[in-house]
Amino acid sequence: MAEPFFDHPFLSGHHAPQRFEADAPDLIVRGELPRDLAGIFLRNGPEPLYPPREGDYHWFDGDGMVYAFDIADGRVAMRNRWVRTDKFELERAAGKRLFGTFGNPFTCDPSVQGKRYNTANTNVIIHGGKVLALMEGAPAVELDPRNLDTLGEHDYDGTITTTFSAHPKVDHFTGELINIGASINGPAGEPELRYDVINPDGSVKKAERIKVPHHALIHTFFVTENWVVFPIIPIDTDPNRYMAGGPMTAWVDDRPTKIAIMPRNGTAKDVLWFEYDPRHMFHECNVWEDANGHIIADVAAANGTALFPNQDGVKRTHGQTLQSLRRWTIDPMANSGWIKEETLNDRDIQFPRPDDRLMTRPTRQAFGNINLESRDGRAEGMDAVLRFDTAAGTEDIYHFGAGASAGELIFAPRLGAADEADGYAMTLVHRANAPGSELAVFDARSISAGPLATVEIPFRVPSGFHCNFYAADSALYRGAYTAA
Ligand SMILES: [Fe+2]
Repeated sequence: MAEPFFDHPFLSGHHAPQRFEADAPDLIVRGELPRDLAGIFLRNGPEPLYPPREGDYHWFDGDGMVYAFDIADGRVAMRNRWVRTDKFELERAAGKRLFGTFGNPFTCDPSVQGKRYNTANTNVIIHGGKVLALMEGAPAVELDPRNLDTLGEHDYDGTITTTFSAHPKVDHFTGELINIGASINGPAGEPELRYDVINPDGSVKKAERIKVPHHALIHTFFVTENWVVFPIIPIDTDPNRYMAGGPMTAWVDDRPTKIAIMPRNGTAKDVLWFEYDPRHMFHECNVWEDANGHIIADVAAANGTALFPNQDGVKRTHGQTLQSLRRWTIDPMANSGWIKEETLNDRDIQFPRPDDRLMTRPTRQAFGNINLESRDGRAEGMDAVLRFDTAAGTEDIYHFGAGASAGELIFAPRLGAADEADGYAMTLVHRANAPGSELAVFDARSISAGPLATVEIPFRVPSGFHCNFYAADSALYRGAYTAA
């Protein structure tokens, strides 16, 4: 029997789990969806099936629920399905939560000791003809593109059996999926990551193991035309600290950010290590090389985080750790490895995104969800969306109103689009006290004009993590949906 959830900021309001799966074959659309917008919008997020065991909850710990919106001819069909991982099925059979938070072995039920903790809750992508639900602590989970049924963990013919990033990058110029696996030996094993290059057909071209100085949450990494960069931020998971009474996962004060740089086609022996001030950085917008050969990384970064306590258990507030859009300039050829940081936009931004088709090459348009009025954006919600032109320094903002919670704003190219940001931008949003959520679709170059069309979802979609749009004329979409 499923028991009631307890009160918690990330289990109530716009975060409260709905805990059901739905099919809506033809959603109501207010306004008019452009006829050159066609494809699929996929979003993943945490929606716990059962209350946690420890009486506390972490936003990252819910079971993955994937929402798919099929868009064509001005119409939208929606479906949502839990990712039925082994963890999900074990707990469903037991009728209660069995795994500790983040799979903490010290708080797991004995029946699941040694079993894989995979929530598959962070991102959902298409590559190699497969729809993959991702979290960074376990292998990718393959979903049936037609109905979102779970097909099981996908281990690339036994090559990638441990961890798989929630933020792998598709290089649209080569069709490759560039990926990492963090802490591939587990938090108690030797600190090591794996760097993967996966061919457009889904076969593995390269899987390289790289030693790192210590365990860390490596939530994202950078890829340019010639380089790959692994930022090791000062957040780690440490069983020894937990055994001594401290937090399992913590921001380690005064630990520098360590950055490994490697030629994209290089090996572990080619890695260069740079150091910089402590930074929280989970998401980049885009990264490329400039004419001087410098790596330009536009990132959402902060000088600390409220997501985890420090090593002594001290929690910081969201207001103390606001993120901003910053540009890191890294010279991979400098012996000193200098890194320059400048603030591009000081709005509290959560998920910056570029026109994905141009990842690894220069871009100037950054899309993101931002926080204008709420006091605690992560718990209360991000109430606005932004396009920021990094070259002109101009903002293009739409505010959904006080109390709204807008998800990641992503660019969706119109059919046949060539230029950067030629198309639309969309986000899932819940407005304060509304019975349902909306998929808001904007002209990508005129966010402040408000949505061109609003797709009404007849229930509130809990706030989630990452989403992607695959246009019907893109190679990735065709590979999963229309290939023979
Ligand atoms: Fe993320």
